Amino acid sequence: VRTQVGIVGGGPAGLVLAHLLHGQGIDCAVIEARDPEAIRNTHRAGILESATVRMLADSGVDGRVLSEGHEHRGTTLRFDGENHHIDFQDAVGHSVWLYPQNEVFWDLARACERDGVRIFWSVSDTGVHDVETQDPRITFTDAGGAPREIQASIVVGADGSRSMCRKLIPDDVRQDHFIEYPFAWFGILCEAPPSWPELIYANSPAGFALISQRSETVQRMYFQCDPETDPEDWDDRAIWARLQECLSGPDGFRLEEGRIFDKTVLRFRSYVCEPLRHHSLVLVGDAGHTVPPTGAKGLNLAFCDVRVLAPALVALFRDGDGSRLAGYSEQALQRVWKAQNFSYWVTKMMHARDGESAFEQKRRRGELAAITGSPYGRAYFAESYTGWQDQKYV
Ligand code: DHB
Repeated sequence: VRTQVGIVGGGPAGLVLAHLLHGQGIDCAVIEARDPEAIRNTHRAGILESATVRMLADSGVDGRVLSEGHEHRGTTLRFDGENHHIDFQDAVGHSVWLYPQNEVFWDLARACERDGVRIFWSVSDTGVHDVETQDPRITFTDAGGAPREIQASIVVGADGSRSMCRKLIPDDVRQDHFIEYPFAWFGILCEAPPSWPELIYANSPAGFALISQRSETVQRMYFQCDPETDPEDWDDRAIWARLQECLSGPDGFRLEEGRIFDKTVLRFRSYVCEPLRHHSLVLVGDAGHTVPPTGAKGLNLAFCDVRVLAPALVALFRDGDGSRLAGYSEQALQRVWKAQNFSYWVTKMMHARDGESAFEQKRRRGELAAITGSPYGRAYFAESYTGWQDQKYV
């Protein structure tokens, strides 16, 4: 197969890039190790920035995000057993949308199929070669067991947080910026009605909990746990007891309980690869940077990368102008580090650490009070959460 852009990874980052390039008449081909049903059933976060929603709706992916997603005009931070509402519209005039990322993936996969984008699912033995030349190649075994090769002008690594593509940037060029956190999230899906109209980010002596939603009948919730936790060690009763404890307070708030049908432990890490481009290889999304889940920036950040990269590739292939691609890494990284800061900051502010001093606990409480108790604090949170409306990325 000969193409202009070979994309390694058919998750949301790779597919939204393929969709936009195809729409601009740029030829591309995508390979993905998993089958689409497996990705569709991998539960990830559910919050989309307004610019992400616009990108899906305006580029003709599907209107499902608007008809089936839910606009959230604010959120609630809960501490000392009390709710503190942050009205995004009031503070900065923007909203976010609740629409599960696995549905974003599904809409993109169907749009690509409809438009005739070449995607090879369920491939194995992927190799990427000659990225320091102008004729990079991707080799793989296709779903039928046949060896294949894609010859491209640019290879895009959209292969997620365990990216093999980024390892092709030599050690003396690549800088890995990396931190880990001493906690993880225990995530559940359950059959229950919503407990509250918006999301609740709760800080409590029992740890952090996030009450999110999926639909009128399915809810998504998380609580802070040890990274070594085995989900099977927790039965429904223990899970509900912990979640209720994290949300309890003098206001008598209770979560609506129901059958739990999915349990997973999510590890926390912050990672940035610099640079995001090396000769004919470009990284997008989790392959280039990973954020902890607090604040749900992961997919939104991948879409920001693509909003910079897609026009840069169009300029290269249509006008022979490589200057925008040359600036891709620097420009994308500006947004990446803002989102890294936000995800890190909210994570630190909301979670209790084992063995934390009374000073640290009270300082964090002061921070929460400073953010929720002032229009400027609320505006800072709201601007970051809804996705800085920075002209370079909107
Ligand atoms: C969800 C996940 C997040 O990490 C977050 O900050 C908000 C929502 C979710 O799964 O719905």
